[in-house]
Amino acid sequence: MRQRKPLVVANWKMNGSFDLVQQMSAALSVLTQPLPDILICPPVILLPHFPKHPNYLLGAQNVSEQLAGAFTGEISADMLRAAAASYVIVGHSERRTLYGEQDAVISQKVKVAIDSGLTPILCVGESLVQREEEKTLQVLARQLDAVYAAQPHLLAHSVVSYEPIWAIGTGRTATPEQAQQVHQFIRQHLAQYDAQAANELRIIYGGSVTAANCEALFAEADIDGALIGGASLKVADFSAICTMAKDS
Ligand code: 13P
Repeated sequence: MRQRKPLVVANWKMNGSFDLVQQMSAALSVLTQPLPDILICPPVILLPHFPKHPNYLLGAQNVSEQLAGAFTGEISADMLRAAAASYVIVGHSERRTLYGEQDAVISQKVKVAIDSGLTPILCVGESLVQREEEKTLQVLARQLDAVYAAQPHLLAHSVVSYEPIWAIGTGRTATPEQAQQVHQFIRQHLAQYDAQAANELRIIYGGSVTAANCEALFAEADIDGALIGGASLKVADFSAICTMAKDS
């Protein structure tokens, strides 16, 4: 029996609508327990439009590393909490590559999120070139160490998501074996900072997860759920994935 409760996360990215909020909340509300923890991360403007329901939680896709002040366009952790978010995705590869987020700022975001009572979902993952050059584990170690080496106490309050960049939005998912190998490495690597927290840490997989391939991923020992982009915008597919995660 798995000790870690599965976590299934919808990352809507810059997609979705008021209609999709209604459809998704209605579909998730009729799912019957037992369920995984289900988390929806829509664009923040949609957060207040989700009806409250015990079947799902809400989160954001980004947070400012600053607490408050003259930071045009930014949203603070406290504001996200006030909008009913309990989680936040931090360091998604799209933030790293398209918006230049570096390890140092990502580390600060993880800290600020936890200090404000949000659970960060720290995204890590290698590019195709890095994988082909057999640098995957080295890249992941750097991304993890940037956050936890100086602040190991944050591990117990985190979720980590392995998202190989080459699998995001490409339809080319990591095989369950490839993903499991990396998840196991992440857990072992983080055990140096806090063995118990590493054992309890939920490590979820992201990258072209669908209703068709999720079951095999969820069956792996160190895959504790999924971070889902495209398929999370399809109500029937996302509901099906949630239903399958509860049995893993
Ligand atoms: P896709 O599921 O569309 O590949 O996106 C994955 C992702 O980036 C989730 O954060």
